[in-house]
Amino acid sequence: SAFAAGCLSALADDPTGPSRPTSTADFEGFRARLTGDPHRPRYHFTPPANWLNDPNGLIRWNGRYHLFYQYNPAGPFHNSIHWGHATSEDLLHWRDEPVALAPSPDGPDRDGCWSGCAVDDDGTPTILYTGGDGRRQLPCLATSADPRLGTWDKDPDNPVIAAPPSDLDLLSTEHWEVEFRDHAVWRDGDTWYQLIGSGVVDEGGAVLLYSSPDLREWEYEGPLLVGDDGHGTVWECPELLDLGDRSLLHVSNYEDVVYFLGDLTDGEFEVTTRGVLDHGDFYAPQSLRDGDRLLTWGWLPETRGERAQWDAGWSGALSLPRVLSLDDDGRLRQRPAEEVTDLRTRRVAAGGPDALDDERRALDAGGRTLEIDLEVALDDAEAFELSVFESADRAERTAIRYPREGEVVVDRSASSRAGAGAADAQRMPATPYDEPLSLRAFLDGSVIELYANGRRCLTSRVYPEADSTGVSVAAEGGRASLTVDVWELEPAIAPAPSAGRGPRP
Ligand code: FRU
Repeated sequence: SAFAAGCLSALADDPTGPSRPTSTADFEGFRARLTGDPHRPRYHFTPPANWLNDPNGLIRWNGRYHLFYQYNPAGPFHNSIHWGHATSEDLLHWRDEPVALAPSPDGPDRDGCWSGCAVDDDGTPTILYTGGDGRRQLPCLATSADPRLGTWDKDPDNPVIAAPPSDLDLLSTEHWEVEFRDHAVWRDGDTWYQLIGSGVVDEGGAVLLYSSPDLREWEYEGPLLVGDDGHGTVWECPELLDLGDRSLLHVSNYEDVVYFLGDLTDGEFEVTTRGVLDHGDFYAPQSLRDGDRLLTWGWLPETRGERAQWDAGWSGALSLPRVLSLDDDGRLRQRPAEEVTDLRTRRVAAGGPDALDDERRALDAGGRTLEIDLEVALDDAEAFELSVFESADRAERTAIRYPREGEVVVDRSASSRAGAGAADAQRMPATPYDEPLSLRAFLDGSVIELYANGRRCLTSRVYPEADSTGVSVAAEGGRASLTVDVWELEPAIAPAPSAGRGPRP
């Protein structure tokens, strides 16, 4: 497309070449040029243009939140991955920073700087990331002396682990000598620990545990957990999170983000319960300990084809920051960070409690950047339906259904008149039908991010036409009681009208 070609020529004009940090001036121009795209999220983080996948290296430093992410500056496709960088003071408004990490042509990361994390090593910000080099992937370390974390010095002794452990039959594929990537690091007393994602032949995905006194010399401790599905599964992007009474280990298995609640004892993880972190288009999340709370962001991949991504000039978004915690019964809770309510600019509809029947009610609340906050009890209805991104004739719409079976179903069969994106239904368990469902739905261009009863999440990518902005509700086969609030949200990520000119705030 003309847009993607423009991004590429901006890179070609850059005398430092395409593997160098691109300037934030380019980014402002990219963002300004993309604001008219109705599928472009306005308050979920997106790359300035081109490609984004996993969030990486989340850290709070000198009073700012730093977000790094898997970024390809050369186009909206996965190749030659760099670390993009953005900063925020409030978790809502993000400012693009120059690209933070680029592959070194002669280094162990020559083919990509893949996923990893950031830690505070007694005042020295340090990242561990996956260096891609031909068929090998090994951990690399970099530190920053820049208070703004804009520049990073790669350790001359990279990679910091010379080879994967040899005492396990780790999976290899046609692409990789051994599946061995993604790094989560934490400190306990004087010892650093590191998790690396992998897989064991004939067993399943694996999380490998290492320890170190200094982040540079690592000793292999053994597998923390190995899956038991008997398939050639790989676990990517593992993280171990302290939720107080229990720990949460999550891994991404090419389809879902699976979590395990349990305890870490003597280098092994005892699983008590397991679940799926998000039942939709959500992958490779990464977390940040922020005082008392634990914040998590995931990658929301596109479900439309490569061609459509190329034409759009960008690919990928991040979820809202989510707070993970345990409830009194030890079950996982997930809620949007409190700050997200600051995005509300105007309440555009409210009502209830009202009795709802099969006469569909349109809410006077059209838009592409909305929060819908509702509570519904099924009474004697068979189902409740919230329909969003509706065209005037309702031929195009995404139906979020809550049937008596006690699940929430996102029906995407009519989501895109143009046939863009996945059309399959997605579903998550919800409360039993005799308990009210409370649902927060965040709509944003091509994102629908759902939180059910503050516990379960389902995120969908859908691609309706620009004028499909309607919202309606109905009950089926009986009556339901509904209370609803709809808010317009601030387009916090889109540039202000003057962006690209004038000084930054
Ligand atoms: C997960 C992942 C990671 C890898 C990165 C490469 O989406 O495949 O395993 O480090 O993306 O971009």
